[in-house]
Amino acid sequence: MLDLSNITKVFNPGTVNEKIALENINLHVNRGDVICIIGSNGSGKSTLFNIISGTYPVTNGKIIFDEVDITSSPEYRRAMTVGRIFQDPTKGTAANMSIEDNMITAMTKGMKGLRISLNNEKRKMFSELLKPIGLENRLKDNVGLLSGGQRQALTLLMTVMSKPKMILLDEHTAALDPRNAQIVMDLTERYIKEYELTALTVTHNMQFAIDFGNRLIMMDEGSIILDVSGEQKANLTVDELVRRFKDLRKKNFDDDEGLLTD
Ligand SMILES: Nc1ncnc2c1ncn2[C@@H]1O[C@H](COP(=O)(O)OP(=O)(O)OP(=O)(O)O)[C@@H](O)[C@H]1O
Ligand SMILES: [Mg+2]
Repeated sequence: MLDLSNITKVFNPGTVNEKIALENINLHVNRGDVICIIGSNGSGKSTLFNIISGTYPVTNGKIIFDEVDITSSPEYRRAMTVGRIFQDPTKGTAANMSIEDNMITAMTKGMKGLRISLNNEKRKMFSELLKPIGLENRLKDNVGLLSGGQRQALTLLMTVMSKPKMILLDEHTAALDPRNAQIVMDLTERYIKEYELTALTVTHNMQFAIDFGNRLIMMDEGSIILDVSGEQKANLTVDELVRRFKDLRKKNFDDDEGLLTD
C-alpha cells in the first residue's frame, strides 16, 4: 500500500542548524497493517508522518502509495487518502462551528464542487454515528463547548467519515486524562476494524505499543532500528523492548532519560 524508499529529510541544509531528521528510511506498509511507532524525543516520528502526509517535501527518496508515485504530490491532495490526527484536541475541528456543520464538512472533504446539504436524513445518520461518543443529542452545539476527550473522539469520527485509506495518529491521546485516553483509544480500535483502516500510531507507551496492532516499529535518530510483527511482537515485554532499544540504538546512553517512557 505504502512504500517509502530511501527517504531522507534534512532540515536547514547547509546551515549551522542542519538537522538530518530522517536518514535513508525504507518502509513497506501493507494494507490493513496497524503499526505502533515508538522512539525517543526527536527520533523522527512526526517527521515521518509529515513526509507521508506531504506537509514537508523529502530531501531524497521516493513515496509510492497504491502504485502511484506521490513524492511530489501536495498535502491537500494526499489528505483525501491519508487522514491525520494530532496530539492537540483543538486541531482537527472548528471550535466556532456546530458539531453537525463540522461533520458535513468532513463528509464533503475531497468532493470537489459537490455540495451536500444538511437535512434530517443526514442529521439522523450523524446522530447514529455520534452515539458511541455520547454526543448524539448535541448536533447543534458548537464544538468549542466540548471537552478535550469529546473533541478528540469527534476528530477521529470526522477523519474516518472522510474515508481515508490510511490514518496517521500522532500521540493522539497524550493530551487527555487516562479515562478519556482509554475511551478515544477504544474508539480508535473500533473504527480501524469497522472501516478496515491501515493505521500508523505514534506512542510513548511501550506496553500499549506491544498490545495494540500487528506491527511495532522503533525509531532512533532518524532511522528505523526495529520492525517486528505478529507473534514476535505479541511476545515482547517492556523490559525486552528497553533492552533491545539500548542494544540497537546508535549511541549508548548511560541512562534511559527521554526513552520510551509512558
Ligand atoms: N520544521 C522543522 N525544522 C527544523 N527542524 C525540525 C523541524 N521539524 C522537526 N525538526 C527536527 O527533526 C528532528 C525530528 O523531529 P520529530 O518532531 O520528527 O521527532 P519526534 O520523534 O516526533 O519527537 P517527539 O517524540 O518529541 O514528538 C528533531 O531534531 C527536530 O528538532
Ligand atoms: Mg513527535
